[in-house]
Amino acid sequence: MQSSKQDKLIVFDTTLRDGEQSPGAAMTKEEKIRIARQLEKLGVDVIEAGFAAASPGDADAISAIAQIVKNSTVCSLARANERDVRAAGEAIKSAKSGRIHTFIATSPIHMEMKLRMTPDQVLENAVKAVKLALEYTDDVEFSAEDAVRSEMDFLVRIFDAVIQAGAKTINVPDTVGYSIPVLWGERIKQLIEHVPNSGKVIWSTHCHNDLGMAVANSLAAVMNGARQVECTINGLGERAGNASLEEIVMAVKTRRDIFSCDSRIDTTQIVPSSKLVSSITGYPVQPNKAIVGANAFAHESGIHQDGVLKHRETYEIMRAEDVGWNTNKLTLGKLSGRNAFRSRLQELGIVLDSEEAMNAAFARFKDLADKKREIYDEDLHALVSDEVMAEAHEYYKLVYLHVCSETGETPHATIAILENGIERRDEADGGGPVDAAFKALEKMAGSGAELLLYSVNNITTGTDAQGEVTVRLSKGGRIVNGLGADTDIVIASAKAYINALNKLHSKLERAHPQV
Ligand code: KIV
Ligand code: ZN
Repeated sequence: MQSSKQDKLIVFDTTLRDGEQSPGAAMTKEEKIRIARQLEKLGVDVIEAGFAAASPGDADAISAIAQIVKNSTVCSLARANERDVRAAGEAIKSAKSGRIHTFIATSPIHMEMKLRMTPDQVLENAVKAVKLALEYTDDVEFSAEDAVRSEMDFLVRIFDAVIQAGAKTINVPDTVGYSIPVLWGERIKQLIEHVPNSGKVIWSTHCHNDLGMAVANSLAAVMNGARQVECTINGLGERAGNASLEEIVMAVKTRRDIFSCDSRIDTTQIVPSSKLVSSITGYPVQPNKAIVGANAFAHESGIHQDGVLKHRETYEIMRAEDVGWNTNKLTLGKLSGRNAFRSRLQELGIVLDSEEAMNAAFARFKDLADKKREIYDEDLHALVSDEVMAEAHEYYKLVYLHVCSETGETPHATIAILENGIERRDEADGGGPVDAAFKALEKMAGSGAELLLYSVNNITTGTDAQGEVTVRLSKGGRIVNGLGADTDIVIASAKAYINALNKLHSKLERAHPQV
Protein backbone atom coordinates (compact mmCIF):
# COMPACT_ATOMS: atom_id res chain seq x y z
CA MET A 1 0.00 0.00 0.00
CA GLN A 2 1.35 3.42 -0.91
CA SER A 3 0.60 5.94 1.81
CA SER A 4 0.63 9.70 1.85
CA LYS A 5 3.24 11.79 3.67
CA GLN A 6 0.72 12.87 6.28
CA ASP A 7 -0.10 9.39 7.51
CA LYS A 8 -0.44 9.10 11.24
CA LEU A 9 1.00 6.14 13.07
CA ILE A 10 -1.22 5.22 16.02
CA VAL A 11 0.79 4.14 19.05
CA PHE A 12 -1.13 1.62 21.15
CA ASP A 13 0.66 1.01 24.41
CA THR A 14 -0.01 -2.27 26.21
CA THR A 15 2.50 -1.95 29.08
CA LEU A 16 -0.38 -2.09 31.56
CA ARG A 17 -1.89 -5.21 30.01
CA ASP A 18 0.52 -7.38 27.99
CA GLY A 19 3.52 -5.87 29.84
CA GLU A 20 1.90 -6.64 33.15
CA GLN A 21 1.75 -10.31 32.17
CA SER A 22 5.54 -10.53 32.76
CA PRO A 23 6.34 -12.72 35.78
CA GLY A 24 5.98 -10.66 38.94
CA ALA A 25 5.16 -7.41 37.11
CA ALA A 26 1.60 -7.18 38.48
CA MET A 27 0.96 -3.60 39.52
CA THR A 28 -1.32 -1.99 42.06
CA LYS A 29 -4.06 0.40 40.97
CA GLU A 30 -2.04 3.37 42.20
CA GLU A 31 1.04 2.23 40.23
CA LYS A 32 -1.03 1.72 37.10
CA ILE A 33 -2.49 5.20 37.43
CA ARG A 34 0.99 6.71 37.69
CA ILE A 35 2.10 4.89 34.56
CA ALA A 36 -1.09 5.82 32.71
CA ARG A 37 -0.56 9.52 33.50
CA GLN A 38 2.99 9.25 32.19
CA LEU A 39 1.81 7.47 29.01
CA GLU A 40 -0.66 10.28 28.45
CA LYS A 41 2.17 12.80 28.85
CA LEU A 42 4.26 10.73 26.43
CA GLY A 43 1.44 11.15 23.91
CA VAL A 44 0.41 7.55 23.26
CA ASP A 45 -2.83 7.36 21.31
CA VAL A 46 -4.28 4.31 23.03
CA ILE A 47 -3.53 3.03 26.54
CA GLU A 48 -4.53 -0.60 26.98
CA ALA A 49 -5.13 -0.26 30.71
CA GLY A 50 -5.79 -3.92 31.47
CA PHE A 51 -8.08 -6.90 31.09
CA ALA A 52 -11.24 -6.04 33.01
CA ALA A 53 -12.51 -9.61 33.37
CA ALA A 54 -9.23 -10.74 34.99
CA SER A 55 -10.25 -9.61 38.48
CA PRO A 56 -12.31 -6.90 40.21
CA GLY A 57 -8.99 -5.13 40.94
CA ASP A 58 -8.15 -4.96 37.24
CA ALA A 59 -11.60 -3.64 36.36
CA ASP A 60 -11.30 -1.02 39.10
CA ALA A 61 -7.87 0.15 37.87
CA ILE A 62 -9.15 0.46 34.29
CA SER A 63 -12.15 2.52 35.33
CA ALA A 64 -9.96 4.77 37.50
CA ILE A 65 -7.65 5.34 34.51
CA ALA A 66 -10.67 5.92 32.26
CA GLN A 67 -11.81 8.70 34.58
CA ILE A 68 -8.40 10.38 34.82
CA VAL A 69 -6.92 10.18 31.32
CA LYS A 70 -8.28 12.74 28.86
CA ASN A 71 -5.82 12.90 25.98
CA SER A 72 -5.42 9.20 25.15
CA THR A 73 -8.03 6.57 24.37
CA VAL A 74 -8.40 4.11 27.27
CA CYS A 75 -8.89 0.50 26.26
CA SER A 76 -9.70 -2.80 27.95
CA LEU A 77 -8.98 -6.24 26.56
CA ALA A 78 -11.82 -8.79 26.40
CA ARG A 79 -11.96 -12.36 25.16
CA ALA A 80 -14.72 -12.87 22.62
CA ASN A 81 -17.42 -13.78 25.11
CA GLU A 82 -20.30 -11.91 26.70
CA ARG A 83 -18.91 -11.74 30.25
CA ASP A 84 -15.55 -10.31 29.17
CA VAL A 85 -17.01 -7.79 26.74
CA ARG A 86 -19.51 -6.52 29.30
CA ALA A 87 -16.76 -6.23 31.96
CA ALA A 88 -14.60 -4.25 29.50
CA GLY A 89 -17.57 -2.06 28.49
CA GLU A 90 -18.37 -1.21 32.11
CA ALA A 91 -14.71 -0.48 32.91
CA ILE A 92 -14.21 2.03 30.09
CA LYS A 93 -17.63 3.63 30.21
CA SER A 94 -16.49 6.85 31.90
CA ALA A 95 -13.60 7.40 29.48
CA LYS A 96 -13.64 10.51 27.31
CA SER A 97 -12.56 8.16 24.56
CA GLY A 98 -12.86 4.43 25.28
CA ARG A 99 -12.08 1.31 23.26
CA ILE A 100 -12.88 -2.38 23.64
CA HIS A 101 -10.27 -4.74 22.26
CA THR A 102 -11.77 -8.16 21.76
CA PHE A 103 -9.86 -11.20 20.54
CA ILE A 104 -10.06 -14.88 19.78
CA ALA A 105 -7.47 -17.36 18.54
CA THR A 106 -7.62 -18.24 14.84
CA SER A 107 -4.77 -20.70 14.25
CA PRO A 108 -5.62 -24.40 13.79
CA ILE A 109 -3.50 -25.37 16.82
CA HIS A 110 -5.20 -22.82 19.12
CA MET A 111 -8.73 -23.50 17.82
CA GLU A 112 -8.39 -27.28 18.15
CA MET A 113 -6.22 -27.69 21.23
CA LYS A 114 -7.05 -24.62 23.33
CA LEU A 115 -10.54 -23.46 22.39
CA ARG A 116 -11.85 -26.81 21.12
CA MET A 117 -13.96 -24.91 18.62
CA THR A 118 -14.50 -25.19 14.89
CA PRO A 119 -13.48 -22.24 12.68
CA ASP A 120 -17.20 -21.46 12.17
CA GLN A 121 -17.78 -21.27 15.91
CA VAL A 122 -14.74 -19.02 16.31
CA LEU A 123 -16.03 -16.71 13.59
CA GLU A 124 -19.51 -16.61 15.13
CA ASN A 125 -18.09 -15.73 18.58
CA ALA A 126 -15.89 -13.00 17.08
CA VAL A 127 -18.83 -11.35 15.30
CA LYS A 128 -21.06 -11.56 18.37
CA ALA A 129 -18.33 -10.04 20.57
CA VAL A 130 -17.78 -7.13 18.18
CA LYS A 131 -21.54 -6.44 17.98
CA LEU A 132 -21.89 -6.55 21.75
CA ALA A 133 -18.86 -4.28 22.22
CA LEU A 134 -20.51 -1.73 19.92
CA GLU A 135 -23.28 -1.36 22.51
CA TYR A 136 -20.65 0.27 24.77
CA THR A 137 -18.43 2.20 22.33
CA ASP A 138 -18.08 2.72 18.61
CA ASP A 139 -14.33 2.20 18.93
CA VAL A 140 -13.94 -1.59 18.73
CA GLU A 141 -10.74 -3.43 17.90
CA PHE A 142 -10.60 -7.08 16.92
CA SER A 143 -7.49 -9.30 17.18
CA ALA A 144 -6.92 -12.72 15.68
CA GLU A 145 -4.69 -14.31 18.29
CA ASP A 146 -1.82 -16.34 16.79
CA ALA A 147 -2.48 -14.78 13.38
CA VAL A 148 1.09 -15.72 12.51
CA ARG A 149 0.17 -19.42 12.43
CA SER A 150 -3.37 -18.93 11.10
CA GLU A 151 -4.46 -19.87 7.60
CA MET A 152 -4.64 -16.90 5.29
CA ASP A 153 -8.09 -17.84 3.93
CA PHE A 154 -9.54 -18.05 7.40
CA LEU A 155 -7.99 -14.73 8.43
CA VAL A 156 -9.53 -13.06 5.37
CA ARG A 157 -12.93 -14.61 6.20
CA ILE A 158 -12.95 -13.64 9.88
CA PHE A 159 -11.60 -10.12 9.26
CA ASP A 160 -14.23 -9.57 6.58
CA ALA A 161 -16.95 -10.67 9.01
CA VAL A 162 -15.80 -8.49 11.94
CA ILE A 163 -15.39 -5.46 9.68
CA GLN A 164 -18.97 -5.97 8.51
CA ALA A 165 -19.98 -6.28 12.17
CA GLY A 166 -18.43 -2.85 12.87
CA ALA A 167 -14.83 -3.32 14.08
CA LYS A 168 -12.75 -0.21 13.35
CA THR A 169 -9.27 -1.60 14.01
CA ILE A 170 -8.01 -4.98 12.86
CA ASN A 171 -5.01 -6.22 14.79
CA VAL A 172 -2.74 -8.92 13.44
CA PRO A 173 -0.66 -10.45 16.26
CA ASP A 174 2.46 -12.53 16.11
CA THR A 175 1.54 -13.98 19.48
CA VAL A 176 4.47 -16.39 19.69
CA GLY A 177 7.17 -14.21 18.09
CA TYR A 178 7.64 -16.61 15.19
CA SER A 179 7.77 -14.41 12.12
CA ILE A 180 10.58 -12.60 10.35
CA PRO A 181 10.29 -9.13 8.82
CA VAL A 182 9.98 -10.07 5.15
CA LEU A 183 7.21 -12.60 5.87
CA TRP A 184 5.38 -10.40 8.35
CA GLY A 185 5.36 -7.43 5.99
CA GLU A 186 4.07 -9.68 3.22
CA ARG A 187 1.31 -11.06 5.46
CA ILE A 188 0.04 -7.57 6.30
CA LYS A 189 0.18 -6.55 2.63
CA GLN A 190 -1.75 -9.67 1.56
CA LEU A 191 -4.41 -9.10 4.18
CA ILE A 192 -4.90 -5.48 3.18
CA GLU A 193 -5.16 -6.54 -0.46
CA HIS A 194 -7.56 -9.44 0.07
CA VAL A 195 -9.88 -8.47 2.93
CA PRO A 196 -12.98 -6.71 1.53
CA ASN A 197 -13.38 -3.11 2.81
CA SER A 198 -9.85 -3.16 4.22
CA GLY A 199 -9.56 0.55 3.48
CA LYS A 200 -12.31 1.31 6.01
CA VAL A 201 -10.31 0.12 9.00
CA ILE A 202 -6.95 0.76 10.63
CA TRP A 203 -4.57 -2.18 10.30
CA SER A 204 -2.57 -2.89 13.40
CA THR A 205 0.31 -5.14 14.33
CA HIS A 206 1.22 -6.70 17.67
CA CYS A 207 4.54 -8.55 17.76
CA HIS A 208 6.25 -10.61 20.43
CA ASN A 209 10.00 -10.84 20.69
CA ASP A 210 10.77 -14.56 21.01
CA LEU A 211 13.22 -14.46 18.10
CA GLY A 212 14.33 -10.91 18.87
CA MET A 213 12.39 -9.54 15.89
CA ALA A 214 9.36 -7.84 17.44
CA VAL A 215 10.46 -4.32 16.50
CA ALA A 216 11.73 -5.33 13.04
CA ASN A 217 8.48 -7.18 12.33
CA SER A 218 6.37 -4.23 13.53
CA LEU A 219 8.33 -1.88 11.26
CA ALA A 220 7.90 -4.26 8.31
CA ALA A 221 4.16 -4.18 8.99
CA VAL A 222 4.22 -0.37 9.00
CA MET A 223 6.09 -0.35 5.67
CA ASN A 224 3.31 -2.52 4.28
CA GLY A 225 0.35 -0.46 5.43
CA ALA A 226 -0.17 -1.04 9.16
CA ARG A 227 -1.00 2.26 10.83
CA GLN A 228 -1.23 1.10 14.43
CA VAL A 229 1.61 -0.51 16.37
CA GLU A 230 1.03 -2.31 19.64
CA CYS A 231 4.02 -2.08 21.93
CA THR A 232 5.26 -1.64 25.48
CA ILE A 233 7.72 0.61 27.28
CA ASN A 234 11.14 -1.10 27.48
CA GLY A 235 9.66 -4.00 25.47
CA LEU A 236 8.18 -5.33 28.72
CA GLY A 237 6.09 -8.48 28.37
CA GLU A 238 5.87 -12.20 28.94
CA ARG A 239 8.77 -14.42 27.82
CA ALA A 240 11.02 -12.25 25.60
CA GLY A 241 8.54 -9.38 25.74
CA ASN A 242 6.62 -7.21 23.28
CA ALA A 243 7.87 -4.80 20.63
CA SER A 244 9.46 -1.87 22.37
CA LEU A 245 7.66 1.46 21.98
CA GLU A 246 10.77 3.60 22.14
CA GLU A 247 12.56 1.65 19.41
CA ILE A 248 9.60 1.75 17.01
CA VAL A 249 8.92 5.43 17.59
CA MET A 250 12.55 6.46 17.18
CA ALA A 251 13.06 4.26 14.11
CA VAL A 252 10.08 5.86 12.38
CA LYS A 253 11.18 9.35 13.41
CA THR A 254 14.87 8.93 12.59
CA ARG A 255 14.20 7.22 9.25
CA ARG A 256 11.48 9.57 8.00
CA ASP A 257 13.07 9.01 4.61
CA ILE A 258 11.66 5.46 4.48
CA PHE A 259 8.56 5.59 6.66
CA SER A 260 5.77 7.70 5.27
CA CYS A 261 4.12 8.20 8.63
CA ASP A 262 4.86 9.62 12.06
CA SER A 263 3.52 9.39 15.58
CA ARG A 264 2.46 12.16 17.95
CA ILE A 265 4.79 10.88 20.70
CA ASP A 266 6.66 13.53 22.69
CA THR A 267 10.00 11.76 22.45
CA THR A 268 11.50 13.78 25.32
CA GLN A 269 9.20 11.80 27.61
CA ILE A 270 10.66 8.44 26.51
CA VAL A 271 13.44 8.12 29.10
CA PRO A 272 11.27 9.30 32.04
CA SER A 273 8.62 6.74 30.96
CA SER A 274 11.23 4.00 30.73
CA LYS A 275 12.59 4.80 34.21
CA LEU A 276 9.14 4.91 35.74
CA VAL A 277 8.08 1.54 34.27
CA SER A 278 11.36 -0.04 35.29
CA SER A 279 11.16 1.25 38.84
CA ILE A 280 7.50 0.24 39.31
CA THR A 281 7.78 -3.24 37.80
CA GLY A 282 11.28 -4.06 39.06
CA TYR A 283 12.41 -4.96 35.53
CA PRO A 284 15.76 -3.25 35.02
CA VAL A 285 16.79 -1.95 31.60
CA GLN A 286 19.94 -3.53 30.19
CA PRO A 287 22.71 -0.91 29.77
CA ASN A 288 23.12 -1.54 26.03
CA LYS A 289 19.38 -1.41 25.25
CA ALA A 290 18.65 0.89 22.32
CA ILE A 291 17.37 4.39 23.18
CA VAL A 292 16.80 3.87 26.92
CA GLY A 293 19.85 1.84 28.05
CA ALA A 294 22.34 3.75 30.22
CA ASN A 295 25.04 3.29 27.55
CA ALA A 296 22.83 4.03 24.52
CA PHE A 297 24.46 7.42 24.00
CA ALA A 298 27.82 6.83 25.72
CA HIS A 299 30.84 6.86 23.46
CA GLU A 300 33.45 4.72 25.11
CA SER A 301 36.19 4.34 22.53
CA GLY A 302 38.67 7.13 21.92
CA ILE A 303 38.00 7.19 18.17
CA HIS A 304 34.27 7.63 18.69
CA GLN A 305 34.77 10.30 21.34
CA ASP A 306 37.07 12.21 19.05
CA GLY A 307 34.56 12.01 16.21
CA VAL A 308 31.61 13.05 18.37
CA LEU A 309 33.52 15.99 19.79
CA LYS A 310 34.51 17.21 16.30
CA HIS A 311 31.12 16.74 14.77
CA ARG A 312 28.33 14.97 16.63
CA GLU A 313 26.72 13.34 13.60
CA THR A 314 29.87 11.31 12.88
CA TYR A 315 28.61 8.66 15.30
CA GLU A 316 25.23 9.85 16.58
CA ILE A 317 22.03 9.37 14.60
CA MET A 318 19.80 10.72 17.36
CA ARG A 319 20.32 13.29 20.08
CA ALA A 320 20.24 12.06 23.67
CA GLU A 321 18.20 15.09 24.73
CA ASP A 322 15.53 14.34 22.09
CA VAL A 323 14.63 11.10 23.87
CA GLY A 324 14.74 12.64 27.32
CA TRP A 325 18.28 11.95 28.50
CA ASN A 326 19.95 14.70 30.49
CA THR A 327 16.57 16.08 31.42
CA ASN A 328 16.56 14.50 34.85
CA LYS A 329 16.14 17.82 36.52
CA LEU A 330 17.72 18.58 39.81
CA THR A 331 14.40 19.28 41.40
CA LEU A 332 14.65 19.69 45.10
CA GLY A 333 17.10 19.84 47.97
CA LYS A 334 17.32 20.09 51.74
CA LEU A 335 15.93 23.61 51.84
CA SER A 336 12.92 22.98 49.58
CA GLY A 337 9.64 23.57 51.31
CA ARG A 338 6.33 21.72 51.30
CA ASN A 339 4.90 23.81 48.44
CA ALA A 340 7.85 23.11 46.16
CA PHE A 341 7.56 19.43 47.01
CA ARG A 342 3.81 19.36 46.39
CA SER A 343 4.04 21.19 43.07
CA ARG A 344 6.86 18.97 41.78
CA LEU A 345 4.77 15.90 42.60
CA GLN A 346 1.89 17.47 40.70
CA GLU A 347 4.12 18.15 37.69
CA LEU A 348 5.17 14.50 37.79
CA GLY A 349 1.52 13.44 37.77
CA ILE A 350 1.78 11.95 41.27
CA VAL A 351 -1.40 12.39 43.28
CA LEU A 352 -1.45 11.35 46.92
CA ASP A 353 -4.78 10.29 48.37
CA SER A 354 -4.89 12.46 51.46
CA GLU A 355 -3.22 15.25 53.37
CA GLU A 356 -1.81 12.64 55.78
CA ALA A 357 -0.18 10.80 52.88
CA MET A 358 1.28 14.12 51.68
CA ASN A 359 2.61 14.87 55.19
CA ALA A 360 4.17 11.43 55.48
CA ALA A 361 5.75 11.71 52.01
CA PHE A 362 7.11 15.16 52.87
CA ALA A 363 8.62 13.80 56.10
CA ARG A 364 10.30 11.04 54.11
CA PHE A 365 11.54 13.60 51.61
CA LYS A 366 13.15 15.66 54.40
CA ASP A 367 14.70 12.51 55.76
CA LEU A 368 16.10 11.65 52.32
CA ALA A 369 17.36 15.20 51.80
CA ASP A 370 19.40 14.85 55.00
CA LYS A 371 21.18 11.85 53.52
CA LYS A 372 21.35 12.92 49.88
CA ARG A 373 22.23 16.43 48.79
CA GLU A 374 20.39 16.55 45.46
CA ILE A 375 16.96 15.04 44.88
CA TYR A 376 15.88 14.17 41.34
CA ASP A 377 12.53 13.22 39.83
CA GLU A 378 13.49 9.53 39.96
CA ASP A 379 14.10 9.85 43.71
CA LEU A 380 10.62 11.31 44.13
CA HIS A 381 9.03 8.42 42.24
CA ALA A 382 10.90 5.90 44.40
CA LEU A 383 10.03 7.79 47.55
CA VAL A 384 6.32 7.84 46.67
CA SER A 385 6.35 4.12 45.76
CA ASP A 386 7.88 3.40 49.15
CA GLU A 387 5.39 5.66 50.90
CA VAL A 388 2.41 4.03 49.21
CA MET A 389 3.70 0.58 50.18
CA ALA A 390 4.28 1.65 53.77
CA GLU A 391 0.81 3.21 53.98
CA ALA A 392 -0.94 0.16 52.57
CA HIS A 393 -2.38 -2.15 55.17
CA GLU A 394 0.31 -4.68 54.70
CA TYR A 395 0.71 -7.89 56.60
CA TYR A 396 4.44 -7.41 57.24
CA LYS A 397 6.12 -4.06 57.98
CA LEU A 398 9.76 -3.28 58.71
CA VAL A 399 10.29 -1.74 62.14
CA TYR A 400 14.01 -2.03 62.81
CA LEU A 401 17.14 -3.41 61.15
CA HIS A 402 20.64 -3.74 62.53
CA VAL A 403 23.45 -5.39 60.58
CA CYS A 404 27.07 -6.07 61.53
CA SER A 405 29.53 -6.54 58.72
CA GLU A 406 33.22 -6.47 59.41
CA THR A 407 36.32 -8.00 57.80
CA GLY A 408 37.01 -11.41 59.27
CA GLU A 409 33.61 -11.62 61.02
CA THR A 410 30.43 -13.44 60.00
CA PRO A 411 27.79 -10.88 58.90
CA HIS A 412 24.86 -10.80 61.30
CA ALA A 413 21.42 -9.15 61.10
CA THR A 414 18.81 -8.39 63.75
CA ILE A 415 15.39 -7.42 62.42
CA ALA A 416 12.11 -6.39 63.96
CA ILE A 417 8.92 -6.49 61.91
CA LEU A 418 5.22 -6.05 62.50
CA GLU A 419 3.37 -9.18 61.46
CA ASN A 420 -0.30 -8.35 61.22
CA GLY A 421 0.27 -5.61 63.82
CA ILE A 422 2.26 -7.77 66.26
CA GLU A 423 5.94 -7.03 66.73
CA ARG A 424 8.41 -9.86 66.18
CA ARG A 425 12.16 -9.84 66.29
CA ASP A 426 14.77 -12.35 65.13
CA GLU A 427 18.37 -12.57 64.04
CA ALA A 428 20.54 -14.61 61.68
CA ASP A 429 24.04 -14.98 60.26
CA GLY A 430 24.61 -14.89 56.53
CA GLY A 431 27.17 -14.87 53.74
CA GLY A 432 26.82 -11.06 53.66
CA PRO A 433 24.64 -8.45 55.39
CA VAL A 434 21.81 -8.80 52.81
CA ASP A 435 21.86 -12.58 53.07
CA ALA A 436 21.76 -12.34 56.88
CA ALA A 437 18.81 -9.91 56.70
CA PHE A 438 16.88 -12.19 54.32
CA LYS A 439 17.56 -15.22 56.54
CA ALA A 440 16.30 -13.38 59.62
CA LEU A 441 13.16 -12.31 57.72
CA GLU A 442 12.56 -15.82 56.44
CA LYS A 443 12.94 -17.25 59.96
CA MET A 444 9.99 -15.08 61.01
CA ALA A 445 7.82 -15.31 57.89
CA GLY A 446 8.54 -18.99 57.11
CA SER A 447 7.29 -18.43 53.55
CA GLY A 448 9.41 -21.22 52.05
CA ALA A 449 9.56 -19.11 48.87
CA GLU A 450 12.44 -19.50 46.45
CA LEU A 451 14.53 -16.41 45.70
CA LEU A 452 14.65 -16.15 41.90
CA LEU A 453 16.30 -12.79 41.51
CA TYR A 454 18.03 -10.15 43.57
CA SER A 455 19.12 -6.98 41.82
CA VAL A 456 20.30 -3.54 42.94
CA ASN A 457 20.31 -0.47 40.74
CA ASN A 458 21.26 3.06 41.61
CA ILE A 459 18.36 5.40 40.96
CA THR A 460 20.59 8.38 40.17
CA THR A 461 24.37 8.71 40.10
CA GLY A 462 26.84 9.18 42.95
CA THR A 463 27.62 7.18 46.08
CA ASP A 464 24.84 8.93 47.97
CA ALA A 465 22.26 7.74 45.39
CA GLN A 466 19.31 5.68 46.52
CA GLY A 467 19.65 1.99 45.75
CA GLU A 468 16.58 0.41 44.22
CA VAL A 469 16.33 -3.28 44.98
CA THR A 470 14.19 -5.92 43.27
CA VAL A 471 13.56 -9.26 44.93
CA ARG A 472 11.72 -11.90 42.89
CA LEU A 473 10.18 -14.73 44.92
CA SER A 474 8.41 -17.81 43.67
CA LYS A 475 6.07 -20.02 45.60
CA GLY A 476 3.59 -22.64 44.41
CA GLY A 477 3.73 -21.42 40.81
CA ARG A 478 3.24 -17.76 41.77
CA ILE A 479 5.97 -15.25 41.05
CA VAL A 480 6.10 -11.82 42.67
CA ASN A 481 8.52 -8.90 42.49
CA GLY A 482 9.23 -6.94 45.64
CA LEU A 483 10.72 -3.45 45.45
CA GLY A 484 12.49 -1.26 47.96
CA ALA A 485 14.47 1.97 47.80
CA ASP A 486 16.79 3.59 50.30
CA THR A 487 20.19 5.27 50.44
CA ASP A 488 21.24 2.23 52.51
CA ILE A 489 21.07 -0.81 50.24
CA VAL A 490 20.69 -3.32 53.08
CA ILE A 491 17.57 -1.45 54.24
CA ALA A 492 16.38 -1.22 50.61
CA SER A 493 16.90 -4.99 50.32
CA ALA A 494 14.93 -5.76 53.49
CA LYS A 495 12.10 -3.49 52.27
CA ALA A 496 12.09 -5.28 48.91
CA TYR A 497 11.98 -8.71 50.54
CA ILE A 498 9.12 -7.63 52.81
CA ASN A 499 7.25 -6.15 49.84
CA ALA A 500 7.56 -9.48 48.01
CA LEU A 501 6.36 -11.37 51.11
CA ASN A 502 3.32 -9.07 51.29
CA LYS A 503 2.50 -9.73 47.65
CA LEU A 504 2.74 -13.49 48.23
CA HIS A 505 0.57 -13.12 51.29
CA SER A 506 -2.13 -11.11 49.46
CA LYS A 507 -2.96 -14.17 47.29
CA LEU A 508 -4.75 -12.00 44.74
CA GLU A 509 -5.62 -14.26 41.86
CA ARG A 510 -6.34 -12.99 38.39
CA ALA A 511 -7.18 -14.72 35.17
CA HIS A 512 -4.70 -14.70 32.31
CA PRO A 513 -6.51 -13.75 29.09
CA GLN A 514 -4.68 -16.18 26.84
CA VAL A 515 -4.63 -19.27 29.03
O1 KIV B 1 -0.15 -11.64 21.77
C1 KIV B 1 -1.37 -11.62 21.53
O2 KIV B 1 -1.89 -12.29 20.66
C2 KIV B 1 -2.18 -10.76 22.39
C3 KIV B 1 -3.59 -10.58 21.96
C4 KIV B 1 -4.51 -10.60 23.13
C5 KIV B 1 -3.71 -9.34 21.15
O3 KIV B 1 -1.70 -10.19 23.34
ZN1 ZN C 1 0.52 -10.13 23.17
